Amino acid sequence: RSTLQDVATRKGQPFLFGSTYDTYDADASFSQNVFSTFFNHVVAENGCKWDATEPTRGTADLTECLAVQSYATKNGATFRGHNTFWHSQTPTWLPGSITASDLVNNVIPQHVQQTIQGLGSSVTSWDVVNEIVGDGVSNGMSIAQSALQCVQNKKDWPTQTADGSNTALVTDLSFVHAAFTTALKYAGSTTRLAINDYNTGGSDAKTACVLAVLADINANAAIPYNRLAVGFQSHISTTSFISKSALSATFAKLAALGATAMITELDISLPSASSGYERLQAAIWGDYLDACLYASNCNEFINWDTRDDVSWLGTAQAGTLFDSSGNPKLAAFEVQARLQRYA
Ligand code: XIL
Repeated sequence: RSTLQDVATRKGQPFLFGSTYDTYDADASFSQNVFSTFFNHVVAENGCKWDATEPTRGTADLTECLAVQSYATKNGATFRGHNTFWHSQTPTWLPGSITASDLVNNVIPQHVQQTIQGLGSSVTSWDVVNEIVGDGVSNGMSIAQSALQCVQNKKDWPTQTADGSNTALVTDLSFVHAAFTTALKYAGSTTRLAINDYNTGGSDAKTACVLAVLADINANAAIPYNRLAVGFQSHISTTSFISKSALSATFAKLAALGATAMITELDISLPSASSGYERLQAAIWGDYLDACLYASNCNEFINWDTRDDVSWLGTAQAGTLFDSSGNPKLAAFEVQARLQRYA
């Protein structure tokens, strides 16, 4: 915590370094310890998602989301919002008979408004839309695709019915624009509005798509770049990650626009637990952190899950900063060292 304070002083802006929390998580004393000494930023792992926050159409239930925000405040930490629109973890009423126009004109604006308004103006950033871009070259995508083609390339739409239909009904980006114009209207004046996605950060087709969608939101939903952010989830592994220089180049592209970059869900899977891989994991963790620390436009950095035994990846992946007994791993020491070096 005191190191993070020193980092903020050098950076000239708060540096928000955090992890996930939900009130029903096991091991309250471990959480209490890390969120009051090691992290200064909190995101709900599941508690602010659509299924949790609008279980019945039109009725907000922000109980868990607000409880996580209170937990952050109680621990002197800031809170980020994840998320207001995603194809996964949707309420049971959402698919089915809802039409695309109902979705764009009523369902999305209502959900975004009640969630963002309910959490208030202190939220540092909201993932307004999560994972709306298709999966890059594996799905035949090229760098030159339009924002609409990028979103149409998302293969989860038809089966997951996020657009309210059982067919791929993403015929335009009005659902994205609706989410962002509503978010801009109801968010605090300093809350960043993010488009968040995985397998991004380098000079690849999917990242090009994310940038294309960002430009579209700026142009067609009239959201100024200084309110916009790109969240790089960064669910990576020791064999598949973006180099520090490539990440830095991407962050710099956003800085040139006046937009913010953030690392939103970092975890780094190991092929198997061994000290050799743990060293590589630590080095990659440090490089992702450096890319954010040394970028003028990156000040939120979230590690996804606090320890290996509660990780969504499973214990065997050993993808978090703390082991299954809650002891800091090499990566945690590396993170501390990089923060100190920067400060
Ligand atoms: C995951 C949570 O960690 C799990 O507990 C849950 O069962 C599924 O979702 N991308 C995201 C996160 O944006 O919300 C996901 O979180 C991980 C992938």
